[in-house]
Amino acid sequence: MKLWAGRFSKDTDNRVNSFNSSLSFDSRMYKNDIEGSIAHAKMLGATGIISGEDVEKIIKGLSEILADIENGVLSFNSDAEDIHMFIESELTQRIGDAGKRLHTARSRNDQVALDIRLYLAEQTEELLVLVNELIDTLLEKAEKYKKVVMPGYTHLQRAQPITFGHHLMAYVQMLLRDVERLSQCNQRIKYLPLGSCALAGTTYPIDRLMVNEILGFNGVCQNSLDGVSDRDFCIELASTISIIMMHLSRFSEEIILWCSSEFKFIELDDAFSTGSSIMPQKKNPDVTELIRGKTGRVYGDLITLLTMMKGLPLAYNKDMQEDKEAIFDAVDTLKECLVTFIPMLDTVKVLEDNMRKAASKGFINATDVADYLTKKGVPFRDAYKVSGTLVAYCIKNNTVLEDLSLETFKEFNENFEQDVLEAISLETCVSKRTSEGGPSPESVEIQIERVKTKRNK
Ligand code: ARG
Repeated sequence: MKLWAGRFSKDTDNRVNSFNSSLSFDSRMYKNDIEGSIAHAKMLGATGIISGEDVEKIIKGLSEILADIENGVLSFNSDAEDIHMFIESELTQRIGDAGKRLHTARSRNDQVALDIRLYLAEQTEELLVLVNELIDTLLEKAEKYKKVVMPGYTHLQRAQPITFGHHLMAYVQMLLRDVERLSQCNQRIKYLPLGSCALAGTTYPIDRLMVNEILGFNGVCQNSLDGVSDRDFCIELASTISIIMMHLSRFSEEIILWCSSEFKFIELDDAFSTGSSIMPQKKNPDVTELIRGKTGRVYGDLITLLTMMKGLPLAYNKDMQEDKEAIFDAVDTLKECLVTFIPMLDTVKVLEDNMRKAASKGFINATDVADYLTKKGVPFRDAYKVSGTLVAYCIKNNTVLEDLSLETFKEFNENFEQDVLEAISLETCVSKRTSEGGPSPESVEIQIERVKTKRNK
């Protein structure tokens, strides 16, 4: 028998029942539902809306239900419409009338909004731990490889020399912004919709601040219509997760390239790569490809949420039940990706010599040749032209800038002197790039230190 069966003269069609039910995916909020109900019950007792005796029964009953679910004694095999109905009817079966009083001054509309907020507040904390773990792994590697020269690219063409440490620190910066966004999401999630009731508040003398206090939230939603119909926090979180996935996907794409024989900058640990069923020589970077692939799916979750909300009149509409699968999928997917990506990165073998070799082949010190002349008084545009002509000469003669003799340099411009060879060695090119945020080992060290100090605050 439905809790709301009173005004109906017929049972619900079974097809409607299963179509309508969200229990299969919202049961994961059982703990949050119970936490919210206990806080609500305490407030109902404190304000004299229900008796202290009923409050005690409710708290005891809900705590037992929680324990039974966690011990596997109570399962969700039920035709209940959702987790809220499931727990309420279970409670009423166990404690009778007191259970029926729990829903006073509350609606499932504000109840579900609270449950999602409680659930997502926890989940964002877990995500923060994982993203921070990834940052730690990267910081450690950046320190280790801060002197390993590699080519930096634009247009995927070798451009200027950098270090592997510097490259990794770029991802640290992205992830730090992600941490900031996640923390802000977490704070904005923690506003209390409970007390908005169905849409129009209530005539009972409820104390919303008390519930806010019990749950450790930052404040109460200020408008009852907004309280029940706001899902901005889901969209914000899905968008933050999408950005994190985008970062992981770019990183994954680079790892995929670096693993190829064409680059061979790194080798994945056997435990984090897979083989081919037909080509015995293959070692595939499946983990990173899956992350790249799953990024699309998370964007889908974000679009689902945005589209679901865009045409909804105030206040609650059943469309909003669709929020859960989308946001849960985004959270689950990111978690899965991080849990696998972190140890994969941690165990990667860096092929330093190959990076160094690649750096020496692409004229990535051509800018430094121009800068050398500029520092000797040649206007940059003229110096740029000389360097370009030298590159053309090298290509024609199948050599590289750092292998040219001083005589050859002098043929192109009389300002070249003995120190040019030292000035354009790749190590010099990197170590002299000491500008703030630059790739010199010194600058990378400063980047690392600043991140560490900021995070220890
Ligand atoms: N299962 C519903 C949801 O997830 C709970 C709220 C239902 N409210 C209602 N008035 N039907 O959105």
